[in-house]
Amino acid sequence: MKSLIIGASRGIGLELAKQLNLAGYQVLATARDASGLKTLEECGVTPIALDVCQASSMDGLKDNLQGQIFDLIIYVAGVFGPKTDAKEPIGSEDFDMVMHTNVLGAMQLIAKMAPQVTPQTGKMVFMSSLMASIELTNSSSAWLYKASKAALNMCVKSASSSYPNICLLSMSPGWVKTDMGGEFAPLTPSESVTGILKTIAQTSLVDTGRFLNYENARLPF
Ligand SMILES: NC(=O)c1ccc[n+]([C@@H]2O[C@H](COP(=O)([O-])OP(=O)(O)OC[C@H]3O[C@@H](n4cnc5c(N)ncnc54)[C@H](OP(=O)(O)O)[C@@H]3O)[C@@H](O)[C@H]2O)c1
Repeated sequence: MKSLIIGASRGIGLELAKQLNLAGYQVLATARDASGLKTLEECGVTPIALDVCQASSMDGLKDNLQGQIFDLIIYVAGVFGPKTDAKEPIGSEDFDMVMHTNVLGAMQLIAKMAPQVTPQTGKMVFMSSLMASIELTNSSSAWLYKASKAALNMCVKSASSSYPNICLLSMSPGWVKTDMGGEFAPLTPSESVTGILKTIAQTSLVDTGRFLNYENARLPF
């Protein structure tokens, strides 16, 4: 079984690379700088340099992986951006950075790599967030991040019609102790990733386009 993790230098992505490696997967995992690449190499996975915000870097990934078929691709790369709410304007630099990382990178990955996912059993999973849920939203705090993950969910759901032979999922990892989640988060990366991988294993083509959490519960869009 072969997997590709996008954004694995630390946090949830690094833990996914470690657990998939332990589970016997051949793991290719990306980081955007030398220290991230070294971390991945030390974990026994194949490191690949990638910055999802650089078009040339995304093109390079496609060239690098030409002809390779993956059973599982997970897009983890993400940034939170400003925590501000609708009472403050969002600067265009912040907007571009968050939307490029969380949405455009994922859209490019789908178009470039979905044809290289094993038909019928292969999966592409995208790290979303409970904060993406329009139905559950009751405040505008971190509205840029929320908007980006809601947009990501739409990309995943709509792309599931274009690639009916593979399973595409949006996944909420829970609130996790990482640089992004902070020290007060209730879940360790290990607990979250154990649940994510169990959930992925329980899904099949009939689940494509769904928004799930790390405990395999369906979440409202
Ligand atoms: N932690 C939580 O509670 C939580 C909750 C809901 C959803 N999520 C989502 O889960 C995912 C992982 O979160 P995390 O908590 O592990 O975050 P994290 O610790 O902040 O790690 C973010 C990862 O994304 C990578 N990344 C950021 N910009 C990138 C770019 N331009 N190109 C390539 N990689 C890039 C980072 O690489 P560098 O090391 O190079 O910066 C790092 O590996 C994110 O999509 C996040 O939105 C997290």
